[in-house]
Amino acid sequence: MSGSSVPRVLVFDSGIGGLSVAACVHERLPAAAMVYLADNDAFPYGSQPESVVIERCCALIARALEQYPCDAVVVACNTASTIALPHLRAIIKVPVVGVVPAVKPAAAQTLNQRIGILATPATVRRPYLDELVREFASHCLVGRVGHPGLVQWAEGLARGVAVPQAELDSALASLREAKVDTVVLGCTHYPLLLDSLKQSLPEVRFWVDSGDAIARRVEWLLAQTGRSVDAQGQDDAMCPPVAVAIFSGEIPEGITEFMAGLGLQPKEVTGSWPGDS
Ligand code: DGL
Repeated sequence: MSGSSVPRVLVFDSGIGGLSVAACVHERLPAAAMVYLADNDAFPYGSQPESVVIERCCALIARALEQYPCDAVVVACNTASTIALPHLRAIIKVPVVGVVPAVKPAAAQTLNQRIGILATPATVRRPYLDELVREFASHCLVGRVGHPGLVQWAEGLARGVAVPQAELDSALASLREAKVDTVVLGCTHYPLLLDSLKQSLPEVRFWVDSGDAIARRVEWLLAQTGRSVDAQGQDDAMCPPVAVAIFSGEIPEGITEFMAGLGLQPKEVTGSWPGDS
């Protein structure tokens, strides 16, 4: 347990993508405080060996929990979730929630049985995505795009760098040609690109990500542990949505303003963590 007066949730990603999930958690649980932890020193996880992802996730999250005890951990990264969840659950005492591409809800929503799955090159290749498609979307035509540029473009948004729309358009050409009406955002960075994605694929009717489902799961878990998630009586000034944002590498330029724009004003931002101490 966090021991703090409000429930506290640690949200972890390799970069700023997990902020899309943190925003959903904050919307559902405005009284909860968050610790945001990004392993941006090793970003992107998709190009790291699995052993490195496991080792870094376990070490960083365990260290963060020592310093900032939390009531639940959200691994808001598809890559880390597919690789490291069992390892994390073996060493961490509080509940750990992972994220999976929302293939099931997308298959239930599509009207023309044509789905696009947008993910990182690593996630697109994983056998577990094949299993999700086999289990839930076997009646659909499924197009997959695993493009390395999208996570970088999402990271650029914090620095105020505009998404290169023409490059995005060509990255998504196969989904346009396939006439998909539903797209799964299988990487937590991608909801941050939603305006540009919509511009690129105006025919798509349903954009499906996992943020709300994760937020509901966190709410349920906190209720199970008896932590109050009632916003009544909380003083916003006393309880900013993000108690601390921790980056293993340099603090991304413009991050405080970017987080504030998502409604996730951080009280404190730390970089080069855990440092030498
Ligand atoms: N946000 C991460 C995900 O959902 C980015 C992946 C990466 O770092 O490669 O997978």
